[in-house]
Formats: sequence, C-alpha cells, structure tokens
Amino acid sequence: MAGHKYQAPRGTFDVLPADAHARARVQRTAAEIFARAGFEPIATPVFEDTELFERGVGHSTDIVRKEMFSFEDKGGRGLTLRPEGTAPICRAYVEHGMHKLAQPVKLSYLGPFFRHERPQAGRYRQFHQLGIEAIGTDSPLADAEAIGLQAELLAELGVPGVELRLGSLGSLEARQAYLEELKAYLHAHEGELSGDVRERIDTNPLRAFDSDDEGTQAVMEAAPKLVERLESDDADHFAEVRALLDAAGVEYTIDPTLVRGLDYYTRTIFSFVCDRLGAQSEIGGGGRYDGLVEQLGGPATPAIGWAAGIERILLALDEEPGTEGRDVFISFAADDSGQRALALSLARDLRRAGLSAEFDLAGRGQKGQLKHADRIGARRVLILEADGAAQLRDMESREQRPVDTGSLVEEIVGGAS
Ligand code: HAM
Repeated sequence: MAGHKYQAPRGTFDVLPADAHARARVQRTAAEIFARAGFEPIATPVFEDTELFERGVGHSTDIVRKEMFSFEDKGGRGLTLRPEGTAPICRAYVEHGMHKLAQPVKLSYLGPFFRHERPQAGRYRQFHQLGIEAIGTDSPLADAEAIGLQAELLAELGVPGVELRLGSLGSLEARQAYLEELKAYLHAHEGELSGDVRERIDTNPLRAFDSDDEGTQAVMEAAPKLVERLESDDADHFAEVRALLDAAGVEYTIDPTLVRGLDYYTRTIFSFVCDRLGAQSEIGGGGRYDGLVEQLGGPATPAIGWAAGIERILLALDEEPGTEGRDVFISFAADDSGQRALALSLARDLRRAGLSAEFDLAGRGQKGQLKHADRIGARRVLILEADGAAQLRDMESREQRPVDTGSLVEEIVGGAS
C-alpha cells in the first residue's frame, strides 16, 4: 500500500474529545447568556454568493481582497465559504422580510467561518465564532447592552486579562469627509510610510493606523483622528453609549485609532483584547453597521452586533483537557450472559433517569474494568455478581455496599450513592 499520510488541511484542526468539554462549556454559557437577554438563534448557510461579501464586507478589505475561499459550483455560480456572519444575517433579514417583525430583531449565532490567512497561534483558516446581532435599533442602549453581554460572557467564563477598547466611526458622510482629510495627510507624508500603506492610501487609508511599521506609526501619531471629527449627532450617540457603560460598571478605554477589518461599520466600534494571547490578541469585537441592510437591498435599518472567536477564548482560558466523568460504570463477569444482559438494561434505565452510565466493551476482567472505570472518571461502579446480587462502590471513598439492582435508579437519584 502506498504510504500516503493524510493530515487535516493547513490552518484547520480536529476537535478531539478531550478538548470538546471546554469548548462545549463556552458554547453552553454563551447560549444561556444570549437566551436570557432575548437573542434567538439563527443559522445561515456555510456558503453564500460571493457578491454578498464583496458588497457587504467591502472590496477594499483584506478579507475580500485576499482571504476568501471562493469557488464556482457546477452551475457556474460564484460562491464563497462565509468569512463572517453579519452580511449573511442581514441577507436573511432582508430575504425573510424581518423588518416587518417587531424591531429590533435580536439574533444569536455560532458556527464555522473561513478565511485564507497565514496560520499562526489563534489564527486559523477554519475557525468558530459566536455572536449576536440586534437589527432595527439605533438606540445607544442597544450598543451598551451588546457590549455588556460580551463583557458578561468573558467574565462568566473566567477569561483572564481582558481589556475593552471603544471607538466611534461616526456616520458614513462624516467618515467620508474625514477619510479625504486623512488621505491628504498621508499623501503629504508618503515618503515616511511603508510600501503597503502607501499603496492603499486611496483605497483603505484607515488601515495605516494598524500598521506595525515604525515609520508609519510615527506618522500616524500626529494624524487627524476620526473621534475628533464626529458630527454632533454621532458625538452625542457615542457620549450616551459611554455614559451607559459607565453606569453599568463596564470598564473600557477609548481608542481613537481603533479600526476594524470590515467596511460596514458606522458609529460605535469595539474590541475585546486579552493579554494572554500573542499577536492575535483580539478575542472578539464588533460595532454598529447602520447602512448594511440597506446596502443589501433592504430598508434603511440601523443595527449593532459582535462576534467572538471560540478558539481564542479557549486559548485564553488554557484549560486542561478533560472529560465529563461518568455517574455509573457497570462491571460484570464477561462470561456471564445473564450479567451482560442485565448491564445493558440497567445502563438504559440509568440513562433514562438522566444519569451517564457505561459498561465494559473490551472483555476486561474485573480488575481491568475497575481500572478502566477510574480512567474514565466514573464516580460509582456497580459490580454485578452471581445470582443477581450486586455491590455499589464509591470510587472516591472506595466504600462498597450491597444494593438491590431493582431499585438502583431510585437509590442513586435519591441521593444515596
Ligand atoms: P471580526 O473581528 O472579523 O468580526 O471577527 C470576530 C472574531 O473572530 C475576532 O475577534 C477573532 O476572535 C475571531 N477570528 C477572526 N478571524 C479569525 C481567524 N482567522 N482565526 C481564528 N479566529 C478568528 C466579524 O467577523 C464581524 N462579523 C463581527 C460583527 C458582528 N460585527 C458586527 N456584528
């Protein structure tokens, strides 16, 4: 046989059972927090028309220019594995006429996303986001609530070293005027900028704030800042968001150079970063996108939302791999067919009562079965004996006592171990 070794594709990974436990806790905690705040789950397809992202995320963004997994299907349609979730959710909002529902429509989501980036710690080509979108409200209260929910999630999960950065981009018009001013400033300093920033002065001047080139950084320190150029409506909106966060005790720092890699943002933008992560320090972020629904063919509809990277949360938490443990392991004599059948039906009864139960499937002897029970974290072992007798062993105290298998479920659920 040819010795080809298959591996998961570059930038992807397998979630093995030992890691699934921590991941499930993150997903469960998020789902609970979202549900308690009235955000309801939505799921959109993993691929969409390429044009949706070109229009929604923006032609000049890195995502659209370089990072999309795009392909043509057998019918010649241009499709793309979704690099993010906001444009698809707005597409669904328009497609299903959700503007006719009571506003805002509050949605939550969780799933895989795809970006063809250079893989490194915390950066993958297939990764998972969880997030929320509140579509159909321009209230600063919606901004403060959304931001507060991410703070709540990270706190409840116990993510250490989190910092919230906050900024405002203003309206599209004010941003346009500001961008012209910034472009003029950058052109005046062209000689001091890095090549890639210089190349994109006219297409994406804001990215200059993100550059890690020293010369560019020096130029950007004195550059005009968008937060200083906000129109009064936008400045008032931003002030109200800040006041609400202050009142709620959510800590943040204003970052006048905060930019995000998607074009649809207006007004509030924010980013949660974690000092335990390396270069990819953003755990999650988002902001307002008051023009996106209209841009995708719907009515003018203000909205706000965010997404967090599940792998980045897990990296920051750095939890030991582990298992859920088992409530009961049933041990029996491998050569006793009556015990085998009893093990099967007792396991079914325990599971029906909501307990986790397992038995040996590898033909181990009794010693081997006890060892295995220990290995999988069983809290109790039911040891079946000849003539229908049985012992219940507590794996922590190592105490053992006879039990009646006929009332096993009642005994265990009833609190006696
Ligand atoms: P984003 O900032 O592009 O925003 O992605 C959100 C989060 O996804 C990031 O903070 C990061 O944790 C995670 N992430 C992004 N790319 C990768 C990657 N290659 N590998 C691992 N994790 C990654 C959005 O996608 C917006 N749709 C968020 C939003 C929702 N804005 C408004 N509503």
